[in-house]
Amino acid sequence: MKTGQDINYAAELLQKGEVIAIPTETVYGLAANAFNKNAVAKIFEIKNRPAFNPIIVHIKNIDYIYNIANNIDARLIELMKKFSPGPLTILVEKKNNIPDIVTAGSNQVAIRIPNHPFTLKLLSILDFPLAAPSANPFQYISPVSAQQVAEQLRNKIPYILDGGKCAVGIESTIIGIENEYVVVYRLGGIPIEEIEKYVGKVKLKTHLKNTEDVYTPGQLQKHYSPNKKLIIGNIEELLQKFLDKKIAIITFGKKRNYILSNIAEYNLSENADITEAAANLFEILYKTDQSDADIILAELLPDEGLGKAINDRLLRAAHTYPNEY
Ligand code: TXA
Ligand code: MG
Repeated sequence: MKTGQDINYAAELLQKGEVIAIPTETVYGLAANAFNKNAVAKIFEIKNRPAFNPIIVHIKNIDYIYNIANNIDARLIELMKKFSPGPLTILVEKKNNIPDIVTAGSNQVAIRIPNHPFTLKLLSILDFPLAAPSANPFQYISPVSAQQVAEQLRNKIPYILDGGKCAVGIESTIIGIENEYVVVYRLGGIPIEEIEKYVGKVKLKTHLKNTEDVYTPGQLQKHYSPNKKLIIGNIEELLQKFLDKKIAIITFGKKRNYILSNIAEYNLSENADITEAAANLFEILYKTDQSDADIILAELLPDEGLGKAINDRLLRAAHTYPNEY
C-alpha cells in the first residue's frame, strides 16, 4: 500500500475502478466511483460493512447535485449554499444514475461537498462523484490521518491520498426533510444551532432504541468504538473504582496532572476549545486504544454546539447510550 500526495495517480486508480483513501475536513474516506457498482461493492468488502449500510456521495459543487438528485427541497439547497464545501450532508431523492448499492436500496441519496483542497481537486478531474464512507473497519474509530488509515486497513487498498490531519475531525451533520420538517439524522461538524439560524427549529432523529428501526447506521448505539472498554462518567469517581488497573483518561480543559503512574491523561483541549476537541477526538480515542491501558475513562463535554456531536460519539463509542437520552 502506498501513501502520497499524487492527485493524478489517485484519479487514475479511481478511473480503473479501484478503491482508495481520500482526505476530507471531517475524517478520511474510502472512495470509489459512485456510478460503478462493482467499485462500490469493494468498499463494503474492505470495510467489512454489512451490505445494508448506504454510503455518502461526494461531489465537487452545488450545481452537481442536480445531476444525481430530483425534487430537492429549497431549504436543503439554501443550507448547502451556506455550509458547503463543509461538513453538511443532505438526503435527497436519487436519480437512476446512482446505483442501488450506494443507497442500500433506498430512493434517497446522501450528498456532500467535502472541504479539502486535494479531494476537491480530485473531484474536478473526475467525471464521476465519489461514494465514500469513513475509512475505518465497521464500527471502529474513524481515522483522521493517513497513518491511521494505513494502520487500520493495512494492505487492503492500493493508495492513500495523504492530505494531513483532518481539520474538523468529526463526521458531517446529516439532514433531510420529512413531512415538511428539516430533520437531523446524525450530529456532526455543523452544529444544530447553526442550521436553525436559517431554517428554524429542526427535528432530531439521532437516537433509535430499536436497531431494526435504524435508518442511518450513525444512529446505531454501538459505533465509533475502541476495542478496550470505555466508560463515561465523572472521572474522579470512576478513578476510585478502577485504581487497581492501568487507566487512560480522556479529559477536556485544564490538564489534571495525576501523579499515579497507572494513570495516563489524554487531553482533548487544554484551552477548553470545543473545535480543537472535535479535531482531536478520534485521534485520542485511537491512541488510548493503542496504549497499554486496561480501561479508558472519559467525561462528557458541555452539551452545546459541537460539544453535542462529540458527546454523541463518546456515548456511542462506550456503547452505553442511555436509552432515554
Ligand atoms: O464526514 C463524513 O460524512 C464522512 C466523510 C468521509 O465524508 N463520511 C462518513 O460516512 O461519515 P459513513 O459511511 O461513515 O457514515 C455515513 C452515514 C451512515 O450512518 C449512513 O448510513 C448514512 O450516512 N447514509 C448514507 N447514505 C444514506 C442514505 N441514502 N440514506 C440514509 N442514510 C444514509
Ligand atoms: Mg463511519
